[in-house]
Amino acid sequence: MLTIRRMREEDLDEVMEMEGVAFSSPWTRGMYLHEIEKRDSCYLVARRDGTLAGYGGTLLILDEAHVMTLAVREDLRRRGLGARLLLELLDYSRDMGARFLTLEVRGSNREAIELYKRFGFQIMGERRNYYVDNMENALIMWTEDVTAPEYRLLLDEMRGRYGHACS
Ligand SMILES: CC(C)(COP(=O)(O)OP(=O)(O)OC[C@H]1O[C@@H](n2cnc3c(N)ncnc32)[C@H](O)[C@@H]1OP(=O)(O)O)[C@@H](O)C(=O)NCCC(=O)NCCS
Repeated sequence: MLTIRRMREEDLDEVMEMEGVAFSSPWTRGMYLHEIEKRDSCYLVARRDGTLAGYGGTLLILDEAHVMTLAVREDLRRRGLGARLLLELLDYSRDMGARFLTLEVRGSNREAIELYKRFGFQIMGERRNYYVDNMENALIMWTEDVTAPEYRLLLDEMRGRYGHACS
């Protein structure tokens, strides 16, 4: 059974394990602790039969929700779980007042870019040499207004496709 809920301090040991596998510049436990305590942040974990399957987080700045992280356990990828987490993050962020979502992603991260495009994110800019580990460029992606009726239609479609993924 899959459950998605807010990240808590007790999740962080498992988050740290997955973080080291999923990212070449992993965040530290302290960084996560700091992030999840912020009033305008929303960090979620997905647990499958009790064990960590994925996580993601946003930080709201004015009416923009910045997608800070998103990761799915390697052996559970490509089953719709990343999309399901993103759906939940979108719902939470909209409830908190977000009208737009934005993020930075490595130019080489094809899986993530495809996932975000599916949710209507478009590449609107680039930050050169943004990632210090390999001086890779970051693509800056933005959604349209997520409160607009057109975007709600897209979300309904995504919910139909991924809303029950990995249950
Ligand atoms: C990016 C990531 C979170 C995607 O998670 P996931 O659970 O495998 O993704 P999903 O199964 O929900 O995929 C949803 C859609 O995204 C796209 N997608 C995902 N993985 C893809 C891949 N390997 N190739 C092409 N498209 C892909 C597809 O459109 C897919 O829909 P479909 O399977 O119906 O065709 C996962 O690959 C990951 O944890 N990567 C390492 C961490 C990372 O880079 N995070 C992003 C930081 S910005």
